[in-house]
Amino acid sequence: MNYLPTDHVKISEDGLSVIFLDQSALPNETVFYSTDELQRMYDAIKRLEVRGAPCIGIFAAYCCSVRARKLWLSGVTNADLLVARVSAEMEYLNESRPTAVNLSWAINRMLTKGEEFLEKTAGATTASLCEFWEQEATRIHEEDIEMCKKIAEYGLSLVKDGDGILTHCNAGPLATSRYGTALGPILLGKERGVELHVFADETRPLLQGARLTSYELYNAGVDVTLICDNMASIVMKSGRIQACFVGCDRIAANGDAANKVGTSGVAILAKHYGIPFYVLGPLSTIDRACPTGDEIKIEERRSDEIKEMFYSKPMALPGVKCYNPAFDVTDHELITAIITDKGILRAPYEESIRKAFEG
Ligand code: MRU
Repeated sequence: MNYLPTDHVKISEDGLSVIFLDQSALPNETVFYSTDELQRMYDAIKRLEVRGAPCIGIFAAYCCSVRARKLWLSGVTNADLLVARVSAEMEYLNESRPTAVNLSWAINRMLTKGEEFLEKTAGATTASLCEFWEQEATRIHEEDIEMCKKIAEYGLSLVKDGDGILTHCNAGPLATSRYGTALGPILLGKERGVELHVFADETRPLLQGARLTSYELYNAGVDVTLICDNMASIVMKSGRIQACFVGCDRIAANGDAANKVGTSGVAILAKHYGIPFYVLGPLSTIDRACPTGDEIKIEERRSDEIKEMFYSKPMALPGVKCYNPAFDVTDHELITAIITDKGILRAPYEESIRKAFEG
């Protein structure tokens, strides 16, 4: 597979189904599924077959388009009724992963733009609305490619040939559309002859670092070394890390950033060892309605992900309790800079974030 895929989430040519790569089967199997069913779409996000905040947003936009067309063809021929039915379905899809803002962002954009289209277009029909929604979903996808490229450029300007980078979870092309966010500077650097040495946290419990990040970087010819999460300290102490690059699922207005659980621990370690800690993500990941990280809802997941998944036998007794938060919030004071598609934002974040939105 090309290491810069854009087609791991796409819409079928007839617009009647969404096609996605099952990321939960990687790196062992490359399996694509196609569906037009809302429940299957919900499950694909819930099971992390489709994962990574921007990728979930793109997928949701295509789901919106596919469901609209399906409802129209099944007899919903009144445009206002179609909007109402699609809104209700998207409300359900939005519950599949609460932490990443990109899911609700993409759904809101599709619905708002759809309503605007109806208001502004004389003689609009359900058919033309469905056509408009498919084009809007494609625009979201194309914008994501542009946005990743810009983040990659800004991120690359902060490192130099030979640097060691530590990353957590997977914020590469699979999590977006192309280049990725946290892996963007590394892949762009590779294209330009800037060799970066990457240490990838395996990222317990679902192993996105092992299964996806090392897979993407290895396939791209990047020098990648896989470590267990609890090895980050020894690697940092040895002087092999010059910067940490991580993705983000929701950034609050004060700069607090939610990302895969374990990220905040990496930031604390980086502060201890005096290593810059960069959060990379598009402006659309900043939720200005969310004042601080305390207001970010953290998804809690099943205990079998800790006790059983990826083991041949359960690793704890059935009665043992587990706490399995999927994300944590890194305090803005630990973040050296937030690298967005609109530039590099530094503290005080309230101000730099406000300016980025205004500018
Ligand atoms: O649970 P996941 O695998 O979807 O978590 C992904 C992350 O935490 C990423 O860092 C984040 O979504 C940004 S992806 C560009």
